[in-house]
Amino acid sequence: EEIRDIEQVKELIKSYPDFPSEGVLFRDIFPIFQNPSALDCLLNNLVEQALEFAKKQGSIKIDAVVGLDARGFLFGPTLALKLQAKFVPVRKVGKLPGQTIKFTYVKEYGQDVMEIQADAILKDEKVLIVDDLLATGGTCSAAENLVSQLGATVVLNQFVIELSDLKGRDLLTAPIYSILSFG
Ligand code: PRP
Ligand code: ADE
Repeated sequence: EEIRDIEQVKELIKSYPDFPSEGVLFRDIFPIFQNPSALDCLLNNLVEQALEFAKKQGSIKIDAVVGLDARGFLFGPTLALKLQAKFVPVRKVGKLPGQTIKFTYVKEYGQDVMEIQADAILKDEKVLIVDDLLATGGTCSAAENLVSQLGATVVLNQFVIELSDLKGRDLLTAPIYSILSFG
């Protein structure tokens, strides 16, 4: 099926009750990746939204796109290329070599530690954080914390999906843009 607009992309997202644990309604983005026209539509929307934001802020230059382990890695490098920015991963603890800084956080279904390489982001750089999904906001809030520990500024948190009922927005400091929302 040829996908032309973002509402058709939304229909491809599959919902799984009680995964990975009871009470969680899991939103699966991977069916989008099975359809090249859907993926193209989604990536174009993501890039356009980020460019629109940068323009609205007085045509600011975004220095780095930070993608969150693991599904943020599906979008981060593409977005970074289009913004002519560097891509930097924030990873679950124990995956990154060299000097790192860590932050412990709580998410929709458990607790975790996130990590970033200390030299990957420079003081005063402008950072866009991207992830597939905003739930409670714990993961992204940890990433905001890591970026500011390095003396840089998060200018935008960008998501493919926002689960609005979980109020993840309330936990975040920087502006939030999402492409699709589920109540
Ligand atoms: C999911 C999702 C976000 C995070 C959102 O990742 O990809 O990163 O949870 O939840 P929160 O807003 O409540 O923190 P998960 O930790 O399941 O890891 P994965 O990407 O490796 O599957
Ligand atoms: N990450 C956190 N909560 C999620 C959900 N409900 N669906 C998919 N990914 C998630």
